[in-house]
Amino acid sequence: VAFADRITDYQARVDSTLDFWLPPAKAAPSNLHEVLRYAVLSGGKRLRPLLVYATGEALGIAPEKLDPIAVSIELIHAYSLVHDDLPSMDDGDLRRGRPTVHVKYGEAMATLAGDGLQILAYHALAHDVALSKQPEICTRLIAFLAETTGSFGMVGGQVMDLAAEGKLIDAEKLEEIFSRKTGALIRASVVMPSICALSLSDSHRIHLDRFAQLVGLAYQVKDDVLDIEGDTKTLGKPQGTDIRNEKCTYPSVAGLEQAKRRAAELYSDAMRELARVEQRTEALEWLSEYIVQREF
Ligand code: IPE
Ligand code: IPE
Ligand code: MG
Ligand code: MG
Ligand code: MG
Repeated sequence: VAFADRITDYQARVDSTLDFWLPPAKAAPSNLHEVLRYAVLSGGKRLRPLLVYATGEALGIAPEKLDPIAVSIELIHAYSLVHDDLPSMDDGDLRRGRPTVHVKYGEAMATLAGDGLQILAYHALAHDVALSKQPEICTRLIAFLAETTGSFGMVGGQVMDLAAEGKLIDAEKLEEIFSRKTGALIRASVVMPSICALSLSDSHRIHLDRFAQLVGLAYQVKDDVLDIEGDTKTLGKPQGTDIRNEKCTYPSVAGLEQAKRRAAELYSDAMRELARVEQRTEALEWLSEYIVQREF
């Protein structure tokens, strides 16, 4: 069966694992727990969990072992979107086809819900029963996720993204921002499963890591192109937000055609790295192509 046909199973799998870790909406403070569920169980492509399971297919790691990794990364992603949409950041009113968290529940709740989701990501890693029997791996996963999301990673990238608004920067600097704000978490979606593969050779580990970094860059270049060429209904978020916010995007810095060429180039560079990995990489190949071809 092709990976494309397994996607809905993996998406259902991550949704039910997220449902397991999210506190019940009735548990006090129920107004907060309702918001956590609204922010997470709202569709979304679940691209990062798919990368986690696709890496598992390459490395021969069963999905059950990867559930806490998939969930922790998706929870961080969900928190980052809630905060990214705040009026003080990108000021978005639509996400995954629904009102954003601050529009529906207010800014204070959106800030605190983002905080809650971020903490829950580490909670899931720390409390997973199977991982707790491999304390060394568990600690390394928590450490890697912290590096990925912290001030040298995603949060730092978000700060750099805001600081660049209305400024002139070059493509190289922009890619530096991309590698942090988006690339770091996508990289973690491949590197964290590979942390669980103790017998993986250093060479394969390095090529997988480089593959993930290239795919992460391609993902944000494509996201920037979609902000211009997509439509709000398909995207589930408002088209044209970057232009309104005077964001530095790949098209604004290098032009739309060059942005498309760069996405294609990053994809083929990623494929070259993957070719050096002698595992079953079909699923990762499929996802990489999806990342540059997608329409939302
Ligand atoms: C949007 O992420 C934010 C970026 C990092 C570009 P996704 O495009 O993965 O959003 P969802 O999870 O599918 O809604
Ligand atoms: C978001 O990038 C990156 C993070 C949330 C860390 P964008 O600001 O481009 O994402 P969208 O376009 O709002 O989904
Ligand atoms: Mg943003
Ligand atoms: Mg945004
Ligand atoms: Mg965007």
